[in-house]
Amino acid sequence: MSPRTIIQPSRLSRGVRRWAQARHFSDRRVIFSGIQPTGTPHLGNYIGAIHRWVRLQDEPGEVSDLIYSVVDLHAITMPISPEVLRRHRREAMASLLAAGIDPDRSTLFYQSAIPAHSELMWILACRASTGYLSRMTQWKSKLSVASSTTLFDEDVRSSLKLGLFSYPVLQAADILLYRATHVPVGDDQRQHLEFARECVSNFNSTYGKHLVSPTTLSSPELRVMSLQNPAQKMSKSDKSHWSRILITDTPEEINKKVMGAVTDSENYVSYDPAARPGVSNLLRLLSYFDSGSRTPEQLAAELSSENAGLGVLKQSVSESIIAAMSGIRERYLQLLAEDGGGFIDHVAREGARKAQLRADETMAIVREAVGL
Ligand code: TYM
Repeated sequence: MSPRTIIQPSRLSRGVRRWAQARHFSDRRVIFSGIQPTGTPHLGNYIGAIHRWVRLQDEPGEVSDLIYSVVDLHAITMPISPEVLRRHRREAMASLLAAGIDPDRSTLFYQSAIPAHSELMWILACRASTGYLSRMTQWKSKLSVASSTTLFDEDVRSSLKLGLFSYPVLQAADILLYRATHVPVGDDQRQHLEFARECVSNFNSTYGKHLVSPTTLSSPELRVMSLQNPAQKMSKSDKSHWSRILITDTPEEINKKVMGAVTDSENYVSYDPAARPGVSNLLRLLSYFDSGSRTPEQLAAELSSENAGLGVLKQSVSESIIAAMSGIRERYLQLLAEDGGGFIDHVAREGARKAQLRADETMAIVREAVGL
């Protein structure tokens, strides 16, 4: 018997089948994305993901369902104390609200409030290949081991925990649970999205066409690099706080960090990502926030025609970031203080209520398809 014949859609109950068909043929976009509560979001999170999520709320034309989650179960794949996690969860929620996520237009919730994420993860894990997972890069970068490391490496066998290794399966469950059609993420998440599509193929070829294959919405130009080591992406885990701009930094902090950004010893402006990664990272930031929508190349040509040096470039970048971040810090502090954090908890509860409805619909189909 081929895996396809294990369950046919016709064997689903009528109600579930009708719902599944309506969903399958609906052309409504369902957007899902998530962020780990592992520290205050930085400019990379903002440009690569959060700002995109906010702008999707205002996109004219086709209406989308927008679902955003603070993925707290992912945060415990690396050691984190309960007190720190509790604080980071609320801070992540406050950051998203302060950056412009509107709970009336988007569903915003904590991943752990919906147990179906873990249940679907288990079902997907039963068909996920450990060979595929072992080739993925995230567990290697989290353990700071070479990309050539394998599961047969003695050190890895003791330090690699099952949760970190299976992280991509949980991420796939996050997305598939809401039948997301599009996932806006930074470029570093591409591999995880490919794996999510692999999980859909595995499931659908075994149990029938029930899960939706998600499209990745990401762009390499939106990758923000560290201000101290432009060969690496801006990251929450970098030891140097000079390497990243937090969305809650004061204008003074932003200015100091940008003026101290590592570039090179040539005091002129040109856009050359390979030879001048630090200067090019700054030009991409300037271009991103530029109201005239000039490309990094155009901005470099303009600055160079004015004989501007790197000090002038840095000052312009600093001013553009300060203007774009204006108000976020104040709203963030206000949200955390409001009702002792009670407002944030209320938003998260309401979001979870909405998310639960959709998760229940998917799990009814999945359980029936699997025979549970
Ligand atoms: P996380 O929490 O590391 O980052 C949140 C988002 O920010 C993007 N990002 C960046 N974009 C551009 N430049 C950078 N330097 C930069 N650093 C981070 C990330 O690509 C991400 O979009 N595994 C995910 C969380 C997750 C998820 C999901 C995302 C769990 N389940 C389901 C989408 C769908 C992560 O660790 O993101």
